[in-house]
Amino acid sequence: MAASPRAFVLRHTRLRPVPGLEEVRLHLADEALSLWHAVQVETADPDAALPYWAFAWGGGLAIGRHLREHPEIVAGRRVFDFATGSGLCAIASMRAGAAEATGADIDAFAAAATALNARANGQRVTVLRRDVLDDGPPDADVILAGDCWYDARLAGRVLPWLRRAQERGIDVLVGDPGRRYLPVSDLVELATYDVRTTTELEDLDRQAARVHALTDPTSA
Ligand SMILES: C[S@@+](CC[C@H](N)C(=O)[O-])C[C@H]1O[C@@H](n2cnc3c(N)ncnc32)[C@H](O)[C@@H]1O
Repeated sequence: MAASPRAFVLRHTRLRPVPGLEEVRLHLADEALSLWHAVQVETADPDAALPYWAFAWGGGLAIGRHLREHPEIVAGRRVFDFATGSGLCAIASMRAGAAEATGADIDAFAAAATALNARANGQRVTVLRRDVLDDGPPDADVILAGDCWYDARLAGRVLPWLRRAQERGIDVLVGDPGRRYLPVSDLVELATYDVRTTTELEDLDRQAARVHALTDPTSA
């Protein structure tokens, strides 16, 4: 990697308000494919991941809107934002009064973007650059999982991890715009939001994105 991830994020994004959640500002990009190419060049890795961190995704936007409407979900509580990307959900939870928030992502650029975005919003977010899905549940009261059902393998690992967290008494919120691998039979819908994503990769820039809880495993 030639420059630092932080310098790369700053060079390829612009700090601006998030549509529908204007009180949050993120370092966002305009074009995913040209940025993806820049990531591949920067990392010398043709298989580098898409720059998810440079956009606000439908699932994260829905969670952010839900926490703005229902701050009591996180107020005074410890929040773990799985697949944090830009850090959007972690930042939204701190704005809603969370006691602390951790954003976890496997992507070094996401870790840098989350740190930059937290700072730009005057919020303290702990950044964990690690795959936590083989770990036990995090030390948290609430897990937020925004837009992480787009890949079969990932989805197959996330659900059991969330279930284990639920067994430990951790509240789980899933935000999603109807991705292919969303485990609908394991979810209870809490709210729907009309969101405007910031990536041109989506077929529609306006999406209905939903916030869900996990079903209660004790009720048949
Ligand atoms: C579509 S983005 C969603 C970002 C953010 N939650 C939002 O809604 O805007 C999905 C994120 O999941 C991250 N991711 C993929 N596999 C992961 C894993 N095993 N652990 C943590 N993050 C992961 C990706 O790097 C990416 O940043």
